[in-house]
Amino acid sequence: MRLLSVVSGCTNKHSPISTKGNEKEENVKNPVAWKQNQLKFVNKLAPPLMAAFVALSPFCNSPVSFGQNIDIQRGATLFGRACIGCHDGGGNIIQPGATLFIKDLQRNGIDTEEEIYRVTYFGKGRMPGFGEKCTPRGQCTFGARLQDEEIKVLAEFVKLQADQGWPNIASSED
Ligand code: HEC
Repeated sequence: MRLLSVVSGCTNKHSPISTKGNEKEENVKNPVAWKQNQLKFVNKLAPPLMAAFVALSPFCNSPVSFGQNIDIQRGATLFGRACIGCHDGGGNIIQPGATLFIKDLQRNGIDTEEEIYRVTYFGKGRMPGFGEKCTPRGQCTFGARLQDEEIKVLAEFVKLQADQGWPNIASSED
């Protein structure tokens, strides 16, 4: 999938939507729902057709590249697997002041992809870390660890969702 996005020549991974979380941008038209429809449509096509479709498609004009659509889907899946138990819908069932909504993230200084990555990797307080090299052990999940790349996808997903007010309520279905 990532290869296809390279073929299509879309490189605007850092779209304006995912860079800052200020008030104005929360009101920007919501591309996420639209992208999911797009994704459903793409999934219906047979893979050989899809390559041609992507190469010829006008997706490069869309606010976010095709490659990132796939990441959002993956992010939602990973989130449903590892995070939703405590952060359903972007909330926080253990610590109400530490939700994944932008107001809390900003107040707690975790409103960048880098910081979200760090918290997810090493954990914080009563949140376990999921990184493969997370230490000390007591601060890390007893369940399956996540690969660095998966945490990167998750950090992007959480940041985008936070900037948009969690429009995709991630559910645990895979
Ligand atoms: C066992 C429950 C639990 C799970 C599972 C969990 N978290 Fe957390 N998370 C917490 C708690 C508790 C905090 C607050 C930690 C603190 O500030 O001391 C938190 C905080 C955070 C924060 C910072 C929020 C803020 O406003 O300060 C982020 C980002 C975050 N979690 C992301 C994730 C991601 C991504 C996953 C899935 C890989 C995940 N969490 C899984 C419990 C959990």
